[in-house]
Amino acid sequence: MVRSTFLPALNEVERASIHERQPLPDAYLGLSDDEMAARIAAARATLGDRLVILGHHYQRDEVIRFADYTGDSFKLARAIARHPAADFIVFCGVHFMAESADILALPHQQVILPDLAAGCSMADMASPDQLAVCWTELEQMGVAGRVVPVTYINSAASIKAFVGERGGTVCTSSNAAATLEWAWRQGEKVLFLPDQHLGRNTAWAAGVPLDEMVLWDPDEPFGSLTREAVERARLILWKGHCSVHERFTVRQIEAVRAAHPGVRVIVHPEVPFDVLRAADDFGSTEHILKTVREAPDGTTWAVGTEVHLVHRLAGEVAPEKTVLSLDSMGCLCSTMFRVSPNHLLWVLEGLLEGRAQNRITVPERDKKFARIALDRMLTIT
Ligand code: 13P
Ligand code: SF4
Repeated sequence: MVRSTFLPALNEVERASIHERQPLPDAYLGLSDDEMAARIAAARATLGDRLVILGHHYQRDEVIRFADYTGDSFKLARAIARHPAADFIVFCGVHFMAESADILALPHQQVILPDLAAGCSMADMASPDQLAVCWTELEQMGVAGRVVPVTYINSAASIKAFVGERGGTVCTSSNAAATLEWAWRQGEKVLFLPDQHLGRNTAWAAGVPLDEMVLWDPDEPFGSLTREAVERARLILWKGHCSVHERFTVRQIEAVRAAHPGVRVIVHPEVPFDVLRAADDFGSTEHILKTVREAPDGTTWAVGTEVHLVHRLAGEVAPEKTVLSLDSMGCLCSTMFRVSPNHLLWVLEGLLEGRAQNRITVPERDKKFARIALDRMLTIT
């Protein structure tokens, strides 16, 4: 793409309004697919190398086809460093991903989330206040000095800053096992948040018995745990989960095995523990795609993750391989779904007019330590 130089700069008023969620203007409603595609293509061509569009695998087809990069959280975080010339990083994903991009971006780069309502219910299950209380209570129990905090990338920037400041790190589903190993080299115990399932599943697969893990309930004093229980544990799991992946059940696995003898079941590690144990394989969205793409022809796969990824993969590998959704109703991440081609077009045309709508800016006070934690994450593979 050609680098274009004539675009206007953002003014101060525009900078000040960046945090407010504005409704999609009427002019962007009711457009035909063809018109949107043509206008998005035209905006991309004009913006040239000043723009990079990142798309998470859960995005819908009408959006992801415009992404320069598709990937899981880890791969997309890495892609940012590859585009130092881009002034605008449009993140077709959810809020925590765009925040991480802003933390990792160069000072001149602006990160845009096409719809500010695209959040993550799991990330919302750990607030900085709850984490501060948890840490104080761990101090009162006399264990905090031996605890390394690890947060899943699905968390707010302020949570990442908290763990970064205390010698901890961020992980993604693709490096969670290596991260736990790393963390246990730094300290005796790990506090893992906010996804209890990713923490439990990863540690169990690495050979850690369940009785060396405890569940910290942030809504209860001292996590609802005794000092003795925390003292005995190697892994303190935060009581959070993904409401999309919690829908998968062992019964679904039994049903798919009965209906499709020989089927291989592959799930995302955000599923509950019993589901992971009943599956044949698990891993990040990138791992799921790679595994099925590289599988022998004639194989059948039941995939336990978000439905857009599953349907796209099914279309890509058919007819040589068969891919089914483990949940026959399909499992939709409604916040990922908020990013529509209409929103993408709106923010791109805003950039052409010098307006960075829906810009995500992480406060400076969080950036320093969140960056340290994310940089650690990028080195642990
Ligand atoms: P991946 O990093 O595996 O793509 O997962 C992101 C996510 O939010 C899964 O729910
Ligand atoms: Fe968050 Fe779950 Fe959606 Fe992933 S699938 S973005 S964890 S709500």
